[in-house]
Amino acid sequence: MQKQTLAIRTQMKRSAYREHSAPIFMTSSFVFDSAEHARALFVEEVDGDIYTRYSNPNLTELIDKMVQLENAEAGLTFSSGMAAIYAAVAGLLRAGDHIVASRSLFGATYKLLTDILPRWHITTTFVDADQHEQWRAAIQPNTKILFAETPSNPGLDLIDLEYVNSLKENRELVLLVDNCFATPIVQTPIDWGADLVTHSTTKFIDGQGRTIGGILVGRSDLIDEIKIFARQTGPCMSPFDAWLLSKSLETLALRMEKHCANAWELATHFEGHPELVQVKYPFLASHPHVALAKKQMRMGGGLVTFEVKGGRDRAMRFIDAVELASISSNLGDTRTIITHPATTTHSKMTEEERLRVGITPGSIRISVGLEDIADVIQDFDMALQRSK
Ligand SMILES: Cc1ncc(COP(=O)(O)O)c(C=O)c1O
Repeated sequence: MQKQTLAIRTQMKRSAYREHSAPIFMTSSFVFDSAEHARALFVEEVDGDIYTRYSNPNLTELIDKMVQLENAEAGLTFSSGMAAIYAAVAGLLRAGDHIVASRSLFGATYKLLTDILPRWHITTTFVDADQHEQWRAAIQPNTKILFAETPSNPGLDLIDLEYVNSLKENRELVLLVDNCFATPIVQTPIDWGADLVTHSTTKFIDGQGRTIGGILVGRSDLIDEIKIFARQTGPCMSPFDAWLLSKSLETLALRMEKHCANAWELATHFEGHPELVQVKYPFLASHPHVALAKKQMRMGGGLVTFEVKGGRDRAMRFIDAVELASISSNLGDTRTIITHPATTTHSKMTEEERLRVGITPGSIRISVGLEDIADVIQDFDMALQRSK
């Protein structure tokens, strides 16, 4: 079946009430048929729910859908996208292990790799997203994970996953891809060799900015290993959030088509605008990785970045002049959102680190929503004029 059908028709077993739409199982635990049933669930790990920190029908339904959409084998849900990333690295690595990661990363992921993991002697070498030789040269005997975020937040840099996958050669390296910006509708990293795919479900998967959540899908042997870490450390998703997210997946394909169409219109309208230094969008001919974008992605995604003339002060004036779009740090919402990464999501990086990944003082990240794009274009045109 096609992804759109799977996202709608994958559903938990109906209860005795014969409901059409899946109900919410707001229960922390489940009852056992007998003492022997409880023993078998705990000791032999026979199929069945015990406790919602471990599993729950709503979590399982969401995982089943995402596994199919991402062409994965198994998955786990988390309380946030960061919890999913942390569990993936902490669940697989030991003191002394090493990660090779693209420098273009979401701010909190960068901080996790630079400030938190070194406390346990897990180190990271950062490479420029498109510099193949740097990826190859950074791999050490103790390297265990190759970490790629593509497209990256907020620089929209792309990583050639097929190439990075080829670096594994015969080694047990795990290619972990943050697919948050693309979603499985736009790109399926497992098709290019990824072993694990992580999402902040907070973004396009939710689609309406209601929940914080994360999901990790991929090879079942790796998911089984991470499951041990996740179950004992407890970053679980609420059944209510999983229920909402599973409903959201029913419209993900439709939404992504519109997000991408709107983003394309916005990017092509503003490219070459006299008040902008640059417009960046993966499918624009001017994007440095456009050929790769067309190979690896089915559409260009729902994010566009602008660099306004006049640096930080102009960027702040532009943001304050916008009337329709929301000033927020989230993305992937029905509502268009504008963010100034240098002073918000990426403010913990140094200026030098930001410039290396293309975040200038004038950079503005736009998460293009589902409004009539003519209204958003008019809003930004007006704000560019007023902020001169
Ligand atoms: C690419 C990317 N990965 C991970 C995260 C973290 O997700 P969460 O905020 O759900 O923890 C974000 C959040 O903005 C993100 O943009």
